[in-house]
Amino acid sequence: MESNESKPKIAVFISGGGSNLQSLIDATKTGILSAEIALVVSSKRKAYGLERAAKAGIESFVFKINKYPTPEEAGKELVGILHDHDIDYIALAGYLSLLPPEVVRAYRNRIVNIHPALLPKYGGKGMYGHHVHEAVLAAHEKESGASVHIVDEIYDNGEILEQKRVAVLPDDTPDSLAARVLEQEHKLYPRVLQKLIKGEYNLDK
Ligand code: GRF
Repeated sequence: MESNESKPKIAVFISGGGSNLQSLIDATKTGILSAEIALVVSSKRKAYGLERAAKAGIESFVFKINKYPTPEEAGKELVGILHDHDIDYIALAGYLSLLPPEVVRAYRNRIVNIHPALLPKYGGKGMYGHHVHEAVLAAHEKESGASVHIVDEIYDNGEILEQKRVAVLPDDTPDSLAARVLEQEHKLYPRVLQKLIKGEYNLDK
C-alpha cells in the first residue's frame, strides 16, 4: 500500500453521527480517495463521529468557537492547529457552525461541504438536518439530492462542484428522504474530494 507520507491531509469537521466521515475514511482504504484523514474536529463533545475517529485511529478534538472572546480569535487558533497538523484540505461533514473567516481565507478553495439538497435551493442558515427534507416535502418537490460545494464566508453559498439527484417518492417522510439522500452522499463526497485534490475543477479565484 502507498504510504500516507506523500498524500494530502484532510481535516474532517463534524457535529453529529459522522456517517459521511466514515465514508471518507472507508474511501481512503479502498483507494477511491487518495488522501489521509489526518484530523477530525467536532463542534460537539457527544458527536458519535468522534468514536468513529477513535476507532480509525485518527486524532480528534472538540473545538467550540463560542468559547473564544471573538470569532477572529477562534479562527486564528483553529488555523494554527490546522497548520500544525499540515492540513491541506477541509471537508465539512454535518458540521453545524459557521467556519470563522480566518479559516476560509487560509484555505480558500480547499474547503468543501456536503449538503442534503439541490443547492441553491434549500440552503442557508437554519437549513440543516430534517429542516431541509421537511422543506423539500412541503414544497412538493419531485426531486431532491445531494450537493458538494466550495465553502466561503456564507452558509451553503460557494461554487457547486457536483450534485446527485434523488427522486422524491409520494409516501416519503423527512426520514425516508434523508436516508435515500444520505446513501448518495456517501458515494458522492469521496469522489468529489478526490477530483478536487487532483485539480480537476476550474475554480474561481
Ligand atoms: C448529512 O446529511 C450532510 O449532508 C449534512 O449533515 C448530515 C450529516 O450526516 N450536512 P453525518 O453526520 O455525516 O451522518
